[in-house]
Amino acid sequence: MKSKKTIPNYRDYLNLDSLLKSQKLISEKRGKKAHDEMLFIISHQVYELWFKQVLYEIDSIFEIFEIELIDESQIGIAVSRLHRINEIIQLLIDQIKILETMTPMDFLEFRDLLTPASGFQSGQFRLIENKIGLLSNDRHNYGGKDYKDKIHEDEVDNIKDSENSESLFTLVENWLERTPFLLSEDYNFWEQYKSAVSKMILNDKKIIEKNKSLNDSEKESYFNQYNATEKMFNSLFNESVFSKMIDKGQFRLSYKATHAALLILLYRDQAILHNPYRLLSKLIDLDELLTTWRYKHHLLATRMIGKKIGTGGSVGATYLKKALTKHRVFEDLSSLTTFLIPRSDLPNLPKSLLRNMSFHYDTAED
Ligand code: HEM
Repeated sequence: MKSKKTIPNYRDYLNLDSLLKSQKLISEKRGKKAHDEMLFIISHQVYELWFKQVLYEIDSIFEIFEIELIDESQIGIAVSRLHRINEIIQLLIDQIKILETMTPMDFLEFRDLLTPASGFQSGQFRLIENKIGLLSNDRHNYGGKDYKDKIHEDEVDNIKDSENSESLFTLVENWLERTPFLLSEDYNFWEQYKSAVSKMILNDKKIIEKNKSLNDSEKESYFNQYNATEKMFNSLFNESVFSKMIDKGQFRLSYKATHAALLILLYRDQAILHNPYRLLSKLIDLDELLTTWRYKHHLLATRMIGKKIGTGGSVGATYLKKALTKHRVFEDLSSLTTFLIPRSDLPNLPKSLLRNMSFHYDTAED
């Protein structure tokens, strides 16, 4: 049995001694304490603590997806870890409100003392971005400089590793590519889906044609719009057109993975696809939440410093605005909704496949 002495008390267990001594106001050191600097430091420190937890969860999801044959229950675990990450990021968004209680003039009391330190140098933030799947080439670099130039030397190797390793994006893409059910003896998902889409488009065109409230030029404009929709679907049906879109950077998810993701989105009501569907939804949420954080942070920076340059040397709020639209990872998944069709038009799945997709209990007589 452990002796009582080895059980740490609250303060020791949480290492509060060093944690609570880690707020050193630079303004105080320089002889003129700026009251709001404490809030500024604590805000950043709690962000970094939550970043640590996010990385911890991402690494655990990596372990699940690195295995070739993933057990269904493991997908459920990955979904709950992603849910936790998303809740943390939601908290990080809400937390901006607290920092906004500092006025721009209060910030000016110590801002100049911070140069050249900036959140831009957060190694953990860069690790999160890379591990989720942001590619170096897709980054909005300011002044043509590599973001790693600003990272502390102790962190650079780790960040380089994350650039060259699998990411949540590539692991999920590989997993999608391995999805069964796309092709079997009596079922070809893609062919079935294609004919359902042609029927849907034909039907929609008939509705426009028969609509008496539209005049000829209005009908023509509707048809033109419809041709654009058809074109979009054609790019999805034609692998070489699709590859060109990937080459041009208009799409990132592979052809095969895109098919699987669509199958999951369309047949989400089938028991076996529930968790895969929840997983894709959580990834879409993650992308949206990070974009929302970037947007709120951009607004915060605009409110605090207007059009001044950042302490890290970027053009400030303008850089942040560009990064927020460019640094998205799972946009392909959200844009797949373009290709959804009404439930009533979904091709019926063959009985054998339905049985494989459902949770069933075999009795001895079966
Ligand atoms: C008064 C509050 C803040 C202001 C005015 C501000 C301003 C800025 C600016 C102007 C940049 C662009 C880089 C530069 O030139 O410095 C930046 C980047 C960044 N800041 Fe803040 N920031 C604030 C609070 C925070 C907080 C609380 C965090 C939490 C960790 C944070 C994290 C970051 C990150 C991660 C980046 C890099 C973003 C990217 O490259 O997409 N900032 N910030």
